[in-house]
Amino acid sequence: MNILGIETSCDETAAAVVRDGTVILSNVVGSQVEVHRPYGGVVPELAARQHLELIDRMVTQALADAGVTWAEVGAVAATAGPGLASSLLVGLNTGKGIAAALGVPFIPVNHMEAHLYSPLIGNAAWPVVVLIVSGGHTMLVHVTGPGRYERLGQTMDDAAGEAFDKVAKLLGLAYPGGPEIDRLARQGDAAAIPFPRSLRDEPGFQFSFSGLKTAVRYYLARHPAAAVADVCASFQEAVVDVLVAKTLRAAAATGARTVAAAGGVSLNSRLRARLTQACEQAGIRLLLADAKLCTDNAAMIAARAFHKWPTGPESFGVGVAPSVGLG
Ligand code: KG4
Ligand code: ZN
Repeated sequence: MNILGIETSCDETAAAVVRDGTVILSNVVGSQVEVHRPYGGVVPELAARQHLELIDRMVTQALADAGVTWAEVGAVAATAGPGLASSLLVGLNTGKGIAAALGVPFIPVNHMEAHLYSPLIGNAAWPVVVLIVSGGHTMLVHVTGPGRYERLGQTMDDAAGEAFDKVAKLLGLAYPGGPEIDRLARQGDAAAIPFPRSLRDEPGFQFSFSGLKTAVRYYLARHPAAAVADVCASFQEAVVDVLVAKTLRAAAATGARTVAAAGGVSLNSRLRARLTQACEQAGIRLLLADAKLCTDNAAMIAARAFHKWPTGPESFGVGVAPSVGLG
């Protein structure tokens, strides 16, 4: 069955067609980065307007790329939350409208559950520990089957991506800062500055990144001539150290032999390298998604929707899903 997925929770206007939850027939993303860049972050009002501008084109393109006609769409799914309220409304109402016009079910999807599925599309292995690291969330989830999961821990303050973006802002780098820090860190010394590894050696799976961000701010105030590449590399290493240590510890605690990483920060080259190395050493299989599936996209929405399919008719309600599960 072909599911048309729609994602408009933040600043990407995305549509995709996925067959049977595993075959991505198309995955179209209209980025709004240029619209928000002058403001150094996402402006909700502008995001909602951009979604309205782009959504029809993205949906049409997703169907064309997939070579799927309207008649071949078996269900429509859209992100119901968490996300920016005015942005979510655009995708939700578009999805519901299309579903009603086609006479097919509408499936609301939790954005975090969708991120969780992105490295598992066509690749599922249970049980798996998934590290979700995005601009809005940082969490470790133990997944034992489609829709069956337990949240092991999450950030108590800033998300990992938020820390990347805020530190980039302190350094005067362009938005979004994560990719910039990743790029500059390659020329820097990761051991140059001993930034704190918050909660790394504490029991449990909670995270905290706001202290690290503050440590960078104080360091820059005291060392205005600091080499930006060294600050980037040292900050990045502190984040990656904590993420890798906790993820591997979660795998050991749950007995999962597979680990996956999802969300925009899972694109970070140092995180990928360190996770690869740590998983190899521990004899654990690592699933990393393609770049287009790590950042916000609609293929993960359609894939998650398919896995909701067997769980009962409540999945097909047309209302906004309550923020259950990971949201
Ligand atoms: O998953 P995502 O696209 O959107 C949310 O749902 O939040 O994640 C966006 C976040 C941003 O904070 C961005 O700076 C970060 O992912 N990011 C990166 C990299 N690429 C994107 N952070 C570190 N290194 C990267 N290469
Ligand atoms: Zn996201």
